[in-house]
Amino acid sequence: MKKVVKIGSVGLGRLGYEHAKNIATSIPGAQLTAICDIDAQRVKDVAAEFDVAYTYTNFEEMCANPELDAIVIVSPSMFHADQIKIALDAGKHVFCDKPLDTTIAKCKVAEKAVEAHPDRVFMLGFMRRFDESYAEAKRRIAAGEIGKVVLVRSYTQDPRTTIEGTLKFAPHSGGQFLDMCVHDLDLIRWFTGSEVKKVWGLGGVFEFDLYRELNDADNAAATVQCDNGAMGFMFTNRTHGAGCNVETEIIGTKGTLRIANVGSRNLLQIIDGAGARSEYYPDFLSRWHQAYINEIAEFVACIRDGRKPEVTVYDGTAVSRAAYACKESFESGEMLSVSSDD
Ligand SMILES: NC(=O)c1ccc[n+]([C@@H]2O[C@H](COP(=O)([O-])OP(=O)(O)OC[C@H]3O[C@@H](n4cnc5c(N)ncnc54)[C@H](O)[C@@H]3O)[C@@H](O)[C@H]2O)c1
Repeated sequence: MKKVVKIGSVGLGRLGYEHAKNIATSIPGAQLTAICDIDAQRVKDVAAEFDVAYTYTNFEEMCANPELDAIVIVSPSMFHADQIKIALDAGKHVFCDKPLDTTIAKCKVAEKAVEAHPDRVFMLGFMRRFDESYAEAKRRIAAGEIGKVVLVRSYTQDPRTTIEGTLKFAPHSGGQFLDMCVHDLDLIRWFTGSEVKKVWGLGGVFEFDLYRELNDADNAAATVQCDNGAMGFMFTNRTHGAGCNVETEIIGTKGTLRIANVGSRNLLQIIDGAGARSEYYPDFLSRWHQAYINEIAEFVACIRDGRKPEVTVYDGTAVSRAAYACKESFESGEMLSVSSDD
């Protein structure tokens, strides 16, 4: 077993900072050895905070550092496939946050790069699979406790309070379906054990005009059907009034599982002149804090133990295909079949 996995992380924005901090402080067997961002001041500040040995504003240069074992990619989504290829070609193990990239052609570039380096670990960041509640739901489904999965309903709502950062991120996000719904689509595939075959995407701009300019929606929904007949329903928005709300219901032939159907951050109930209430997680970073640590811990454990992660590059392409079909359906108003063409 390799003693310490030395990691270089690219992208130090909203989530990139979180991953960098987690690697530096919370992942056993890992070291944050290098960081990279095009924003030189950001690199300097984060390096000082976590005492990082090597700093870069150029990704290729970071990948050429022979000390590094692995690269964590948290840059804007349209750079993912190219950076995956560069890092793998440089001999590094790669963790890339979702989505795999913003076009199917780019997802294929990532697939080819992963196939060309079978001895390297590649993992995609679908962190919900590493959240304790979602992982337990999966275990119970696999054990047959709710019978056959009939429907997965999943809501992903971002709070209004974080809208400033969200609007800055929107132009390079790939759109609501590719950016937000990928998580719900991955869950639908994971819980049903089947690929999405038909989608009907809906949505509208209810408040933030930028989404209209981007041919996108600030509130969107999609109904889907899988190869095995199971159904899914997703709703996503950027205008939630009470913090980050992610809730999922899995209805089976013998039972139902619900995760976070009130979005509470803990068991505290506040009872005062305004009534009785629980507090929400304020943002996605606090909701998924432990899942972000767990997924990188699994990536590092795979490298140290010489095994491959459950989440593959092909999951990334399959989810992107379904998300694209949702986007096209939203734009055309038609129910669409998910293409399986390359
Ligand atoms: N899994 C999740 O829950 C989750 C949540 C948020 C974001 N993400 C994903 O993480 C990625 C980053 O999202 P974010 O919200 O942190 O974005 P962000 O816009 O906050 O940050 C992006 C960072 O990348 C830097 N950057 C831009 N181009 C670069 C380049 N060519 N090389 C190096 N650095 C570059 C920017 O300067 C910025 O610091 C996206 O792909 C997004 O989909 C995933």
